[in-house]
Amino acid sequence: MADRVMITGATAGLGAEFAEQFAARGAGVVLVARNSSRLEEKAAALRSRFGVPVEVLVADLHDDDGLRRVLDRLRDDAEPVSTLVNNAGYGLAKSFEENRLEDELNHAAIHLTVPLALSHAALQGMLARGSGRIINVASVAGFTPRGTYSALKAAMINFSRWANFAYRKRGITVMALCPGFVHTEFHDRMGMDKASVPPWMWLQAKDVVREALKDLAAGKAVSIPSKRYKVLAFVARNAPSSLVAALASRGR
Ligand SMILES: NC(=O)c1ccc[n+]([C@@H]2O[C@H](COP(=O)([O-])OP(=O)(O)OC[C@H]3O[C@@H](n4cnc5c(N)ncnc54)[C@H](OP(=O)(O)O)[C@@H]3O)[C@@H](O)[C@H]2O)c1
Repeated sequence: MADRVMITGATAGLGAEFAEQFAARGAGVVLVARNSSRLEEKAAALRSRFGVPVEVLVADLHDDDGLRRVLDRLRDDAEPVSTLVNNAGYGLAKSFEENRLEDELNHAAIHLTVPLALSHAALQGMLARGSGRIINVASVAGFTPRGTYSALKAAMINFSRWANFAYRKRGITVMALCPGFVHTEFHDRMGMDKASVPPWMWLQAKDVVREALKDLAAGKAVSIPSKRYKVLAFVARNAPSSLVAALASRGR
């Protein structure tokens, strides 16, 4: 059966690139995000360029009804979702104590409890079929002590490492993708000045996704695209945490 890939946050950035690269490989895609006109535009472009089946699921993952409809689709065995990409996400511009509690809890949901809920639903069918793949888009920030964003990404990295080990014998690969800074809409949406980050630290979404798909095919639990970020992640994982925290606090 042909691959059917659900991608959350498929209207922009890494999610749009995942949709493109999976469709280019002949996979059907299920595009999830809030902006219906952008989703329809993306779907039409993918259908005409690659001739693959494209489903559009307009859903706000912060909304109970939106989340339920995405979970229902993952539980639907008629056209089973064989690959799930938990990608939707955003950053908060202020620090923890300055943010409204409601914003912090929503932020925690989009980066942690929503991907866990979607993984849980997707796994039921994947385990029954004895095959499946889950990509959790985390971040190299998850290797540094740096606010709630990095804490949530660290949790998804740890979950993915465990789940990769636990489910690999049953035919399922779970992988945390840990990119550094990538040119997407993420920083503009946060209102961050991108010029504050040196040019060499920026990656292109197409390169990140290409490397992620190679690592997924190899069954890796953690994917860190580019040599420069592999080195930085190694330092972050092995240097004293006070030093890593001090260095990480310089950029955003
Ligand atoms: N860019 C980076 O430097 C970077 C680095 C490391 C990790 N990441 C991670 O990569 C992932 C993708 O980010 P990106 O950089 O591609 O950002 P982006 O260009 O801003 O795209 C974010 C996507 O998430 C969707 N989204 C946001 N909130 C949503 C919600 N409540 N419900 C449903 N969809 C929602 C957006 O679509 P709608 O607005 O249409 O809903 C959009 O498609 C995130 O998890 C982020 O943490 C990014």
